[in-house]
Amino acid sequence: MRMESTKHGWQLHRAPLGLKLSISLLVVTLSAGLLASQFLVSQSLHGSDHWTWPSMEQLRLKYAASPLERAILTQMAQYLDKPTEAAPVVAWSQAGGERSTYYEHVAPVLDRRCLRCHGGESTRGDVDLSTWGDLAPLALSRGPAWGDLLRNTHLHLFGISLLLFLAGVLLWCSRWSRWLQLGLPLLAFVALLADIGGWWLSRHFEPAIYLVMSGGLLMTAGLTACLVLVLFDMWRPGPKSSA
Ligand code: HEC
Repeated sequence: MRMESTKHGWQLHRAPLGLKLSISLLVVTLSAGLLASQFLVSQSLHGSDHWTWPSMEQLRLKYAASPLERAILTQMAQYLDKPTEAAPVVAWSQAGGERSTYYEHVAPVLDRRCLRCHGGESTRGDVDLSTWGDLAPLALSRGPAWGDLLRNTHLHLFGISLLLFLAGVLLWCSRWSRWLQLGLPLLAFVALLADIGGWWLSRHFEPAIYLVMSGGLLMTAGLTACLVLVLFDMWRPGPKSSA
């Protein structure tokens, strides 16, 4: 009985040793790149160097919150006397950043804690928070700056789709079942689109951060599984030579 699929002759476990070695090196290098990307994601979400599991709150702050809310709850939180000072500013930004309520709820906090760096002479980070008009763009927009999101979308779609295609082709040249060979790359492709679609949707519809989380996880899992299966199959002994 032959469990192995031999529908085509392109099977990597039968390839010459040199080719198997170089493909193995490629797979190991890609896996290391994948690992690095997980640290990069973690770092971009909470700003420090150690790895932590991404949380929904971190994703919300990055993809669905206003730049003002993001800053005052993360990087700029250190300038508040106590964390509760952020609450009125956050609530105001979430409620639509109205001019009428700005003077009562927001201006006093910014005056006390922020304007020494973001008003008048000093506009650190090119951010001016002196007036409602200066603040409005930071309070009313959502998610990362448009240009940053566009650049990341471009890089991810071009880079990762090629990686997934390559992993899919390598998996196709293995002895795993057709279901795995087709299913895993397909899953990873759909997950990639969900992840990146989620980045854009979250700006208008906060629950789309769940797409970002699940898409990111499934894409990483799918690609990792492809790479592991390719490597394993390539060095797994064949069925009793070619008898
Ligand atoms: C001691 C100076 C200082 C104080 C006080 C300060 N900031 Fe900042 N802020 C900075 C610097 C420097 C940057 C640029 C940081 C960077 O680009 O990494 C910045 C950047 C920002 C940004 C842009 C963040 C981004 O992602 O580009 C916002 C928004 C901001 N600050 C809001 C605030 C708010 C709100 C307060 C008051 C709670 C505050 N800052 C207090 C120095 C300060």
